[in-house]
Amino acid sequence: MKNIPMHVAFIMDGNGRWAAARGKTRRAGHEAGAEAVRALIKNAGAAGIKFITLYAFSNENWQRPEAEVKDLMNLLSRSLDEFDKTSKDNNARFLVSGRRDRLPEKVLKKIDKIIAATAGNNGLTVILALNYGARQEVADAVNALIAAGKKNVTETDIAAVLYNPSVPDPDLIIRTSGECRLSNFLLWQAAYSEFYFTPVLWPDFDNAELEKALEVYAGRKRRFGNV
Ligand code: IPE
Ligand code: IPE
Ligand code: MG
Repeated sequence: MKNIPMHVAFIMDGNGRWAAARGKTRRAGHEAGAEAVRALIKNAGAAGIKFITLYAFSNENWQRPEAEVKDLMNLLSRSLDEFDKTSKDNNARFLVSGRRDRLPEKVLKKIDKIIAATAGNNGLTVILALNYGARQEVADAVNALIAAGKKNVTETDIAAVLYNPSVPDPDLIIRTSGECRLSNFLLWQAAYSEFYFTPVLWPDFDNAELEKALEVYAGRKRRFGNV
């Protein structure tokens, strides 16, 4: 297939509804969602995608019941261990996008370890958007520029102090579960992204669904304001 997007960002939504439809707990829904991520990491690399961003936990998700937040952090911690073990074999590089504050110490330690351990890998780059908010990202960038003494800023200045300045803007943003909104995701970087919304719930987003999305993307004409 030609015209493969270099960077695809995923708003992995619908774990709760997937679980509710099966009479399962929300926790079971998140576990099933993590399973879908595992498969995606394999399939995205095989499809020729170079970067994937996974929206795993938003700034706003702290508002959820304490028990669910705890379940999500525990699941995250286990998923990081697994990524740590498999990254040698699949040559994946790991990055994080988001704030460090409020994240459990054990999660931060694992993140730092995996980023360092995979820095030299040149396969798929997996960016985990964790404790992430796009408005926060822009505000943090502006504060960094103020701290650097800037009196006047350009677009390039702002882009250079976002959480991962070396990562190219997403070519394609996919949101599952039928919601058609960004929910505070990549507001700056999405300026010219293509969007793909599907009613499929995240745990059901398999390789066939990824291929469907890539096919739709391949048929899009990106003009960037030109003719
Ligand atoms: C996405 O699934 C996972 C996170 C936001 C952490 P949800 O938990 O939002 O599932 P729904 O939207 O309630 O179905
Ligand atoms: C967006 O999903 C955040 C993640 C997928 C991590 P939400 O379920 O939190 O979004 P809203 O609340 O429906 O907008
Ligand atoms: Mg949701």
